[in-house]
Amino acid sequence: MSHPIAIITGAASGIGLAVTKSLIAKGWRVVMADVDGKRGKEIAAELGQKVLFYTTDVSSYEQQAKLFKAAFDWGENRLDFFAANAGIADTEFLYDAKEHFDVNGVLQPLDLRTINVDLIAVIQGIWLFKHYARRNKIPGGKVVITSSAAGLYAMETNPLYTTAKHGLVGLARGLGPIFAKENIHVNAICPAFVPTALCPEEMLDRFPKEHITPMSTVIKVYDKLISDSSIYGQTVELSLDQLYFRTKPDYP
Ligand code: NAI
Repeated sequence: MSHPIAIITGAASGIGLAVTKSLIAKGWRVVMADVDGKRGKEIAAELGQKVLFYTTDVSSYEQQAKLFKAAFDWGENRLDFFAANAGIADTEFLYDAKEHFDVNGVLQPLDLRTINVDLIAVIQGIWLFKHYARRNKIPGGKVVITSSAAGLYAMETNPLYTTAKHGLVGLARGLGPIFAKENIHVNAICPAFVPTALCPEEMLDRFPKEHITPMSTVIKVYDKLISDSSIYGQTVELSLDQLYFRTKPDYP
């Protein structure tokens, strides 16, 4: 029996890298994908034969499609798990995006990169995963989407990130029951603050310790969602700072 195969996006840092290391320690082979090719290649070289690294910008459908094909080939027609994890959190206020909106008096479309990377790329990726998971010897597989507490509550400083991450929660809830019929189990995790490059120590210092999710908890939840086929269409909320993430009423 060959080793199980995973694709992890955003694997060169933070949560993606921690999940990669945890899976290879359990005997998996991991196809790591990240837009940061330099860092990814260095890390992959350290991790050895159990990983392959692909420089991939997930917001490019072509690049993501190549990644999935390469993983399925490497796995000799096997693909077990997809962590749709790559994400960015541009902190630009939607209403303050002047440089995209008005250039020399000409209105421009908004820069929706956050939506493209954090939401559209995940939708494309999950459908690619389905294509290959259907072709497994025993059809099926597992998907964990890294949404965020901002997928459940409004993050006032970043409305586009909030929009994308809410979309991912909808995706897990909407797809879960449908894909489960084909033995493909899709769930989303919603962490608040996990110490990573995206959420560095200086930022974490501003919040009470009880709202910070240790990486070990994130890994435990990933493990549970990978191993338990009775769970699908769920969003797993991992600690929450009510002061930062809150839904405001529309009236004073
Ligand atoms: P990180 O910044 O440490 O890692 C993100 C990785 O994604 C980086 O290696 C980056 O190069 C890669 N990436 C960015 N854009 C990409 C693209 N277009 N294509 C491929 N790779 C790309 O951040 P972290 O914290 O590990 O974030 C992982 C996920 O967790 C993100 O989706 C983030 O929104 C989510 N998250 C993180 C939280 C935290 O507190 N750290 C809280 C809630 C959600």
